[in-house]
Amino acid sequence: MRIGILISGRGSNMAAIVDAVKSGEIPESTVAVVISDKRHAPGLEHARLRNVETVVVERGGRPRAQHDDEIAEELTKRGVELVCLAGFMRLLSPQFVASFPDRIINIHPSLLPAFPGVDAQKRAFEHGVKVTGCTVHLVNEHLDNGKILAQRAVEVRPEDTVETLSARILTEEHKLYVEAVKNIAAGTWAIDFDRKGVFT
Ligand code: GRF
Repeated sequence: MRIGILISGRGSNMAAIVDAVKSGEIPESTVAVVISDKRHAPGLEHARLRNVETVVVERGGRPRAQHDDEIAEELTKRGVELVCLAGFMRLLSPQFVASFPDRIINIHPSLLPAFPGVDAQKRAFEHGVKVTGCTVHLVNEHLDNGKILAQRAVEVRPEDTVETLSARILTEEHKLYVEAVKNIAAGTWAIDFDRKGVFT
């Protein structure tokens, strides 16, 4: 399976996927490209250090559809079959989503549908939740809204700060995202095109 990963920042989930592909934990797969919409995303360097091709496609004041078309073209010309968003901070246009039907997934640091959007860990913490976690879901044109494929719960401890909680969630994100990509690559999960869900 040829994987394309979209990032905007740190890139730790991207690195987890690349490492799992390289170790063979994610079987018969290649990370064909890492694309960032930010020229200075620290994740780009992590990708380069892992010998993965990187491409920067900045929006640069262009209409969203045009920017998305260019990203789609970079993915398509490399034969990408699964698009993984990993801290990619933009909503994708309906045309982009339609170009990769049921083949775009995202990781989010909360138990969706609770706390979509930015600062999910902080908002969950400040709300006083006792259990939060992370979610891998299909991507549509709405924010953190597509069908849920996998979730992992993380308990909030009395001594937690936003930082310690976020760090524990991030550790689970890396594991959950790798498991999800592995299940898709291995065909263990079939994504049901009608129900837009997953069965094992
Ligand atoms: C992660 O918490 C992810 O769940 C969210 O953005 C963050 C990206 O972190 N969508 P990284 O760039 O993968 O380190």
